[in-house]
Amino acid sequence: MSGIIEDVATSFYVTTPIYYVNDAPHIGHAYTTITADALARWHRLLGEDVMFLTGTDEHGLKVQRVAEENNCSPLEWADRTVIRFQDEWKLLNISNDDFIRTSERRHHSSVQKLLQACYDAGDIDLQVYEGLYCVSCEAYFTEAELDGDKCRIHGRPVELVKEENYFFKLSKYETRLLEWYENNPDFVMPKTKRNEALGFIRQGLQDFSISRTSINWGVPLPWDDKHVTYVWFDALTNYITAAGFENDSEKYAVRWPGIHLIGKDILRFHCVYWPAMLMSAGLEPPKHVHVHGFLLVGGEKMSKTRLNQIGPSELVDEFGVDGVRHHFLHDQPFGPDGEFSHEGMLARYNSDLANNLGNLLSRVATVVEKKCSGIGPAPDPKSNLSKVVAEQYDLAANAWQRVAPSEALDAVWRIIKETNSALEQSEPWKAEPGPEVDLVLGDALEVLRIVSILTAPVIPDSSAIIWNRIGLSGRPEEQQLPQSARWGQYPGGLLVTKGAPLFPRLK
Ligand code: MSP
Repeated sequence: MSGIIEDVATSFYVTTPIYYVNDAPHIGHAYTTITADALARWHRLLGEDVMFLTGTDEHGLKVQRVAEENNCSPLEWADRTVIRFQDEWKLLNISNDDFIRTSERRHHSSVQKLLQACYDAGDIDLQVYEGLYCVSCEAYFTEAELDGDKCRIHGRPVELVKEENYFFKLSKYETRLLEWYENNPDFVMPKTKRNEALGFIRQGLQDFSISRTSINWGVPLPWDDKHVTYVWFDALTNYITAAGFENDSEKYAVRWPGIHLIGKDILRFHCVYWPAMLMSAGLEPPKHVHVHGFLLVGGEKMSKTRLNQIGPSELVDEFGVDGVRHHFLHDQPFGPDGEFSHEGMLARYNSDLANNLGNLLSRVATVVEKKCSGIGPAPDPKSNLSKVVAEQYDLAANAWQRVAPSEALDAVWRIIKETNSALEQSEPWKAEPGPEVDLVLGDALEVLRIVSILTAPVIPDSSAIIWNRIGLSGRPEEQQLPQSARWGQYPGGLLVTKGAPLFPRLK
């Protein structure tokens, strides 16, 4: 023992759902992934030890059937289609630290380890089951939960399925789950979604089947290999697989429990089944589950059958990667359903990026070139803007903590708007060069420095360009918060470059 106590950074582990590999990535998937990415980037700025996980859900009947239709094995099919997600995330500048595929060996071992622990706890037994099954949801429904014979989520007829299945004794965990919710009031956020989960538990929980004999594309049960693991039991386990559950206890101790971001349709699995499965195995439930609504197109949920899916890359062609990221983070509050429209996206791009931020940058660079021979002056230590920055920083930091990126960005854009108004009032472009003009421009440059750090999680490429154009070296994402957001650190004396418009106005 050296006797030295090391400063251990806070661990922050955030996940997206793992996406069904046979669907094409659409903006609904991109929405969660971009939000998780921005959150991970924000926590890296805070100096935390971040792990950000996304991946694909590759087992189950749906994938097995599509593979058969395409005359290949399920794994070949998954290998072919996983690339669509990986390419899309690369395009969108997603900074995940790991990408998990449920067909990986590490995951198989982890699922078997979790199953065995639940089995040893006496929470899994064999029962005969007959029920109405939606293949798209990979879930059984009661008649009351359907629209006639159709699943409410997919609008497709369910199938009558009879199987001898192993069941997980979810009913046994009713009381413990209620206690957990009571003791952890912000386990599920927002409140409306917490109430929904609680309502479901209070209705009374039924055991759920965790194995299938009708398919072979999945993880065999460790004690009965005629059965493969039900795809949801398998899929949920991904979060602890990547955290080292299988064989890396040191990593697991640091990473787990983590934080999940999910859409409202998979609330029951994450907020009821998953914590119960973990409790059964003697493991901790996740720290938080943050639930968001759907992006609607023309008032409807996107789906393959309705042919209204929008791929993120179509939008990137028009708005650029940062334009797309910014739209989803600023315009679509996390929680309620949101209507996606091209007009809304265009309006947000033009007002926030072209008019406010882009204009601030080009204005300042132009005037610095004219009045200060291109050399950026230092800010006024007592500037009024320093107060604005301090107040809005606190609001932004608080909003990120609550996973409310749109509120965080409202705060950042208030700083930008105040700075533009200050410039309009003092009109440095009309004034004679001198100390007064220097201070006004120095303040604006200081705001651009701080704003490029605060927007780095959202528009990482553009914020790095701003950072470099005002003469700073390195990248904004290398800075640390909250220190680097304190007023007065733009040193002055740096070369400011005008460059091409960062966000050209779009029609
Ligand atoms: N494979 C399961 C998740 C397993 S996690 C252990 C799954 N996959 S999915 O690809 O169908 O959906 C993944 C996520 O995309 C879900 O959180 C879902 O809510 C989200 N979205 C799908 N369509 C959406 C919108 N139209 N809008 C926003 N998110 C939506 O479910």
